[in-house]
Amino acid sequence: MNAAPATILRQHLIDPEICIRCNTCEETCPVDAISHDSRNYVIDAAKCKLCYNCISPCPTGAIDSWRNMPADRAYPIAEQLLWDSLPGQIALDQGGTTGAGTEVGAGNTAGETPADVAQIAAASTAGQGGTAPPPWSAAHPYVNLYGIHQPAVATVSGNFRLTAEDASSDIRHIVLDFGNASFPVLEGQTIGILPPGLDANGKPHHVRLYSVASPREGERPKYNNLSLTVKRVTEDHEGKAAHGIGSNYLCDLKKGDKVNVVGPYGTSFLMPNHPGSHLLMICTGTGSAPMRAMTERRRRKFSAGESLGKQMLFFGARSSGELPYFGPLTKLPKEFIDINFGFSRVPGEPKRYVQDLLRERGEDVARLLKDENTYVYICGLKGMEKGVEEAFTALCQANGLDWNSLRPQMLQQGRYHVETY
Ligand code: A2P
Repeated sequence: MNAAPATILRQHLIDPEICIRCNTCEETCPVDAISHDSRNYVIDAAKCKLCYNCISPCPTGAIDSWRNMPADRAYPIAEQLLWDSLPGQIALDQGGTTGAGTEVGAGNTAGETPADVAQIAAASTAGQGGTAPPPWSAAHPYVNLYGIHQPAVATVSGNFRLTAEDASSDIRHIVLDFGNASFPVLEGQTIGILPPGLDANGKPHHVRLYSVASPREGERPKYNNLSLTVKRVTEDHEGKAAHGIGSNYLCDLKKGDKVNVVGPYGTSFLMPNHPGSHLLMICTGTGSAPMRAMTERRRRKFSAGESLGKQMLFFGARSSGELPYFGPLTKLPKEFIDINFGFSRVPGEPKRYVQDLLRERGEDVARLLKDENTYVYICGLKGMEKGVEEAFTALCQANGLDWNSLRPQMLQQGRYHVETY
């Protein structure tokens, strides 16, 4: 006698590689099917009623993940909690029994993109202008589409703390949705925010610039949104108490609030698009925003099976709890990106800055610098510029290169980009 074929369940899952742990899905689920631990957000297949209420509020699209499974073999919560990435779709035969577990790829559904946004985002020509030229293969950036007299009005669709609850800095991931307005941005570009109200002289506040932290296709692919990485400013460079108008305004925003946005800006700090190009990224704190945009762009390509050049990241922060995107970064595959964290304020450990890490990895860094397909990006504290330059000088010398002649050459070729503040 033949066994009855198992029922196929469209199991709703959350992609741990993309999830930024904002808790939106758990808050939204009407049947409490979603829960989390310190590692992953998970969905109980026995409780999920496939109502889709949680799908559109998710700012990243991590929630829009599905696998067809025999109902009696749905992934249990205990297993999902251990995942670093989603398992592939297993092969199912027509009777509903599973094959040998062959992966046949993920199935995501996508939202709508306004036609004009898609058209502009698709236009890709070599960039030009700016003090240092952009990489020769950079997409054409659009700039100044919205000015202060006619800003774009974005709606906040998420505002999540990235740093640990007990961290000294409050760094946030803020997602802005542009609805039907065209606001095309490239990785490395900045946008301007107009804080409401007047300054001490009774004039409107001036524009505050922030680097975009999401890739060109949106924080959530094919959605018309972007993200920012914003640190709440509570003290000045000397450590004296100070209230940052723009950063506090942004960090206090709630879902649904409207924000006036101008820009986009930036024609130089852009990523190369040609196959085989390598990225050498060096950042501290919120200087990670453009690096997140670039790596996320490439992570999506990597997930789609595209072969890419190398990615090497040097990231400095006071401690892991103070490092924005620490959790998601640690989940990225080693073959995708070579990550080096430098922590400066871990009790009992020596202070380590990005320049120390560069020296330690001198041979590998020099190998990348020797390759004319390597593009360097530095973003973060002004102070690190000198230290990074010194590290480049030393590691080049130790590995048969001359930084004094290489640097101007890389600058001229649009392969060396620095944005510090
Ligand atoms: P430090 O602990 O000495 O301040 P912040 O959290 O203030 O944004 O800083 C991010 C990281 O950059 C911290 O680890 C900080 O270390 C580090 N940093 C500060 N000054 C420099 C510098 N001159 N070069 C490299 N890193 C620096």
